[in-house]
Amino acid sequence: MRRPTRIEGYAIISEDGMLAGPDGTMPDSLKFEADQKFFRDGMDGCDVSIHGRHSHEQQPHSGRRHRIWVTGRVKTVEREDSEPRVLLWNPEGASFEEAWDALGVDGSLGVVGGTSVFGLFLPLYDVFYLTHAPGVKLPGGRPVFPEVPARTPESILSHHGMKPDAPRMLDPAKNLKMVACGASLLLVAALLVAAELLELGEHRADVELGRLLLGLGPGTGRRFFLAGGF
Ligand SMILES: NC(=O)c1ccc[n+]([C@@H]2O[C@H](COP(=O)([O-])OP(=O)(O)OC[C@H]3O[C@@H](n4cnc5c(N)ncnc54)[C@H](OP(=O)(O)O)[C@@H]3O)[C@@H](O)[C@H]2O)c1
Repeated sequence: MRRPTRIEGYAIISEDGMLAGPDGTMPDSLKFEADQKFFRDGMDGCDVSIHGRHSHEQQPHSGRRHRIWVTGRVKTVEREDSEPRVLLWNPEGASFEEAWDALGVDGSLGVVGGTSVFGLFLPLYDVFYLTHAPGVKLPGGRPVFPEVPARTPESILSHHGMKPDAPRMLDPAKNLKMVACGASLLLVAALLVAAELLELGEHRADVELGRLLLGLGPGTGRRFFLAGGF
C-alpha cells in the first residue's frame, strides 16, 4: 500500500493546549496574521489536506488540493459527488492506507485538525508545527490532542518520538512563537528499546510502528541494547 511522502501537522494553541474554546469555535485570541501566513505557506507545499467537519483549512488555494474529509457519516471511504477531489473517510471502517489508496494521489499530507484527526496521526508525523498564542488560556476548550490537558502537547509529541526544534519567532511584536517538533529516529529507537525491554503492552502499537519506520524486525531494540548501542 502507498503512503504519503511526508506528513505535517499544523496547529495554534493556547497556553493550556487548546485549539478552540469550550463552545467548539476558534476565538479571535488564537488568530494571528503571521500564523495564518505560516499555515497558508505550509499548506501550499502539501498535496493533500485532511480534516474533520469543523476544520476545513479555508485558505485561498485549498480548492486546488485533494482533501480527505474524516467523518462518521460514511461506512468506509466514499468520493464526494459534488467535489471529485474530496474523499470521505471513516477511520472506524477503513485504515488510513486504504483511504490514501482510494484517493490515488502521490505526495505529502497536511493535517489540519481538529482534536481527533490530530490524534489519529500522532505516531506518523514527520513534523508537527505548534504555534503558541502567548497569554491565552481556554479552560474546558477543545484540546489539540485527545490526551490534553492530562498531558502537555509537548510530552505527547515526545512520547511519540518527536523532538522540538528551537522556537521560531513568527511575530516579534506579539511574541508569537512556533515550535517545529520533528520525528527523531534516535528517540523512536530509544522508545522501541524501552518498550521492548519493559514489555509494555500499551506501547505495542508504537513499537510496531517504530519498527516499520526504521525498517527493523522484531527484537531489534533488545539486540541493539544488548550490543551496547546505547
Ligand atoms: N487552533 C487550531 O490550529 C485549530 C486547528 C483545527 C481546528 N480548529 C478549531 O477547532 C474546532 C473544531 O474542533 P473539533 O474537534 O470539533 O474538530 P473536527 O475534527 O473539525 O470536527 C469534528 C467532527 O468531524 C468528524 N470527525 C472528526 N474526527 C473523526 C473521526 N476520528 N471519526 C469520525 N468522524 C470524525 C465528526 O463529524 P461527522 O461524523 O458529523 O462528519 C466530528 O463530529 C473548530 O473551531 C476549528 O476552527 C483550530
